[in-house]
Order: sequence, then structure tokens, then C-alpha cells
Amino acid sequence: MSYDDAIKALSNDALKFVKDENVIGLGSGRAATKLVKSLSKLIKIKNFNVKCIPTSLQIKLIAEELKIPIIESDQIKQIDIVFDGADQIDSQKYVIKGGGGALLRENILFSLAKKVIVMADKTKFVKNFTRTVPIEVHPFARTSVIQSISKMDGKTQLRSLDRGYPFFTENGNIILDCDFGIIKNPKILTQKIKNIPGVLESGIFLRKPDIVYKAKLDGKFDIL
Ligand code: A5P
Repeated sequence: MSYDDAIKALSNDALKFVKDENVIGLGSGRAATKLVKSLSKLIKIKNFNVKCIPTSLQIKLIAEELKIPIIESDQIKQIDIVFDGADQIDSQKYVIKGGGGALLRENILFSLAKKVIVMADKTKFVKNFTRTVPIEVHPFARTSVIQSISKMDGKTQLRSLDRGYPFFTENGNIILDCDFGIIKNPKILTQKIKNIPGVLESGIFLRKPDIVYKAKLDGKFDIL
């Protein structure tokens, strides 16, 4: 048994929240991928007429391959349910996202959703955040944002690809992975980050998930 088995099992369980005619937001990454695979089976078995909005090309390609009906986010005002993974979850149920660079679109869908469901393995649950916070920044403001973050005692690292080229998001922006040490007040930190001109999104989302699935090593899961 592994975390993968648990994520597969909880993906099937999480589908109990899906209803016919729902508009569904699809997050990005490995947990979201497992969910999308289970969702495609549900749609076929129940003959559901759902519409899905992908947050990245990564998940869009998987949804397309599985013949999941897709619509664009600029066509909708509200989403019934969003399924997504997370990079870290703290004891107040704030999440850090953006490990794959899809944070801007993911946060937009979180904000539009009636219900947000986050799925992650046990290793990602912490009392206070300890990992770097991905921050999406307009390239025009790279140096000024780095300066502002350093005034907040954050250490920045420009995200880059294996061969050293900078990583660009699907929105044409750069990502600064910012180390703030242990984060005891994610809300205030996020508000400060989002106030910096040129910052387009912070990887700490202020909209908390409604349901959190925790995958365990024995293949089982908890619902928080
Ligand atoms: C994408 O930018 C991220 O927010 C992912 O949702 C997050 O990194 C979790 O991905 P995994 O499920 O692959 O760990």
C-alpha cells in the first residue's frame, strides 16, 4: 500500500459530491490527475452532463484524452465544486499551492467555487507552513518585487527549468519561490504579498478548502 493507493481511493470517495449538471473546476498535479481519471468513469457510468474547467494545460490534456466536457473559465460566474491537490496544508486549513505553477488559475477557481475539495498525502500536513511560497510575478516587476519581499525578510529564488532557463507560467509570468521560514500568520503575510505592485498571485490561498482529504500510507484516508 502507498500514498498513491490512498489518493486513488479518496478520489473515488470525493466523487460523491458531484451531481448531474455540475460545473467542476479541475486543479493541476498528481492528485488532481487521479481525480480526473475517476471522474471520467463516473461521467460515463451515470451519464452525467457536467462541464469542467481546467486550471492548466497539464490537466486539460488529460481531461481531453478522457473525453471530459471542457468549458473556459471566462464563460462562467460560479463553479459548483473544485477538486485540487496542495503543496502544504497548515493546522488552520490554509493551503500553499503553485508547485506546478498553476496558482493564478487555481486561486481564481477556488474563489468562484461553492465547494472546494483538496486532496493531499500525509507528508504535506504541518502545524505551520515550512515550505517556500510560490509567488507569480509580472516579469516587468521582477527586481522591485524581489526587493519588497526581501524587506519582508523573505529569500527569493527565481523558478527555473532544469537547464537554467526561467520558468514562465501559462500566463507569461515568472515565479519567485519565497522562503519566509516558519509562517505563523499566513493571512497577514498573504495580504502583504498581494499588496506588492507586480504580484499577480500568492501561493497561500485565503479561501480555505471546505473539505480536505488526507491520504495515509496504509492506503486509507481521513476527511477533515
Ligand atoms: C499546481 O500549481 C499545484 O498547485 C498543485 O496542485 C500542487 O503542487 C499539488 O500537486 P501534486 O498533487 O502533484 O502534489
